[in-house]
Amino acid sequence: MASQKKSTRWLLYIVGATAFLLVLWPLYTARESLPVASEENSASTENPEYLEAVRNETLGVEKVFAINLRSRPDKQDAIILGSSLSGFQVDFIDGVTPDQVDPKSYPYKWNYDHKVTEYAARRAHVNAIQRVVKDRLGSAIIMEDDSDWDVGIKVQLQSFAMAVRAIQGTSDRTTASPYGDDWDIHWLGHCGMDCKTGLPYFLAPNDPTILPPAHFLPYWRDPPPIGRSDDARLTCIARDAVCSTFYMVSYRGAQRILAALSANPVGVADRVDLGAQFDVSLGRMCGDGYLRCFGVYPALMGGYRLGGSPSKGSDINQGGGEPGDNGVVPVSFGVKYSTLLNINRLLNGEETVHATWDDLPVPDIKPDDIPAVGGILQVPVLEA
Ligand SMILES: *[C@@H]1O[C@H](CO)[C@@H](O)[C@H](O)[C@H]1NC(C)=O
Repeated sequence: MASQKKSTRWLLYIVGATAFLLVLWPLYTARESLPVASEENSASTENPEYLEAVRNETLGVEKVFAINLRSRPDKQDAIILGSSLSGFQVDFIDGVTPDQVDPKSYPYKWNYDHKVTEYAARRAHVNAIQRVVKDRLGSAIIMEDDSDWDVGIKVQLQSFAMAVRAIQGTSDRTTASPYGDDWDIHWLGHCGMDCKTGLPYFLAPNDPTILPPAHFLPYWRDPPPIGRSDDARLTCIARDAVCSTFYMVSYRGAQRILAALSANPVGVADRVDLGAQFDVSLGRMCGDGYLRCFGVYPALMGGYRLGGSPSKGSDINQGGGEPGDNGVVPVSFGVKYSTLLNINRLLNGEETVHATWDDLPVPDIKPDDIPAVGGILQVPVLEA
């Protein structure tokens, strides 16, 4: 039975976790951390509560936001239908168009070499961050409206929660967020990511949703400098990443980002914000340690380009194509079992979904057969 398989994997993970906790205890007690909801271990390790929380209608955070320009209801269609098929609820944050930009709103030391559309895109992310602070959300997901995700998103997030809790030393303790209580950003959709080295990281092998490297979306960074077999997903403390296509932000993280990128950047912005695009500034805040960021490699989330004209993809850059072009088929990139490319199979109640590429060893899978995978926390040996 699938549930039995999952608990076996979970137990394997516990074995790994117990072994490392003995070694690591001094390191974790030395580090400053947020207060946790309860210091007590949960009663049962068989079915931890947090793994259920991750599966709820907002994926274990308080709200899921997608940034969307009012002029692109077509992208809203895809996000709304995809999230309904995957069992989560999305709220929209209005994108910002260049004509809505008052030049006075440019932030401290904005680099005017960047396009107005790039500032408008940054502003839309800052608006989403502002919303998290305004509504006092403990945590939220912010995605761009060309995101795509695997049909196994909920079990993938369970795997991610296990990994990221192990790195935070949270283990079975009750926490306010199922993703742990000592984080600002969980960077799940990106186009390149680097890890801090010399710190604990987590490797989860046998993950059937990992793409072979040949099908990675173009990554604008070298792979993280940490060994990984092709079937293993790496979770680490992120040093940098690019493309803010899909991330989680905590309330503390949102407050800190709003300070650095807008409200009071003096002293902070000189270190972490070069008046750059949102993702570049976010990456710097991670690298600098101003934010505590976690990332996954390869990325969990990917992107989707709707069918129609080739210029449909990006609202920041004008794509090629003539106005009359209309026959380009939808494309998904960066996820193996794309929710959006499988919409019709899912609606038809077909048993299996099809991988984005035909040349994979397992091109068809039953969504229920995608397991949550545990793994092993790796702890670099501390030099005396
Ligand atoms: C989902 O779980 C998170 C974490 O426990 C919680 O903050 C959020 O309110 C829950 N969402 C729903 C719709 O119940």
